[in-house]
Amino acid sequence: NKPVTLPELSRMKREGDKIAMLTGYDASFAALEDRCGVDMILVGDSLGNVIQGKTSTLPVTMAHMVYHTECVAHQALRPMVVGDLPFGAYHESKEQAIRNAGMLLAAGAEMVKLEGGEVMAETVHFMVERGVPVCAHIGLTPQSVHALGGYRVQGRDEAGAARMKNDALALEQAGAALMVLEMVPSALAKEITQLLTACATIGIGAGKDCDGQVLVLHDMLGVYPGKKGRFVKDFMAEAQSIEGAVTAYVQAVKDGSFPGPEHCY
Ligand code: KIV
Ligand code: NA
Repeated sequence: NKPVTLPELSRMKREGDKIAMLTGYDASFAALEDRCGVDMILVGDSLGNVIQGKTSTLPVTMAHMVYHTECVAHQALRPMVVGDLPFGAYHESKEQAIRNAGMLLAAGAEMVKLEGGEVMAETVHFMVERGVPVCAHIGLTPQSVHALGGYRVQGRDEAGAARMKNDALALEQAGAALMVLEMVPSALAKEITQLLTACATIGIGAGKDCDGQVLVLHDMLGVYPGKKGRFVKDFMAEAQSIEGAVTAYVQAVKDGSFPGPEHCY
């Protein structure tokens, strides 16, 4: 059970082995996800919603992210741990971004994630050049919920699709190793996945043709009290245990049966 590394992620993209990512926020679930074969654990700022009960990710701070990254890192042995940079932690400058990235790395993250397209390319390049693996995040970027006018599918019109492809290429060029595509029409996500040769795509509401998938843990266990997105599948519905549900998720990502057409746009 060798730890998942950057070269391993590249191999998986190249050979079409799907990457199974799940969010995680604490040690017990990190250990469980590890046992169930999850490849990457994202300590997402979705903790603002599912842990803190807020209506957006905007109130999440670096202190919260460091705390939960530490909780996860001790128990995630094989999975790669990705730490989310919260709103405001990387928007001022590339120097601010790498300083905060360093806090997540010190807490045990092996990669950091930030939201935004071409505008973030310079920041991504600065961090990657200095040894910080970066996951980009385009499509629906929840930290921009107010600017986007709600949680809605992105890249539906021709101009939006062209912009997203341009963003994806700029971020790959900048050195991003991974790219989350959130709430993107399946056909566009497929096109972006084929466009990128070095950077693996991870879909959430972005169709089955991404290089991997991610879901929020509380969503796929059916314990989040909020509205369930179209792209969410409750894996507890057909499982006998939490471990069974997470194992079924990993299996479904690996064999391409999740997401199905009913989870896509
Ligand atoms: O914070 C989070 O959980 C995320 C995923 C939904 C990609 O950013
Ligand atoms: Na996030």
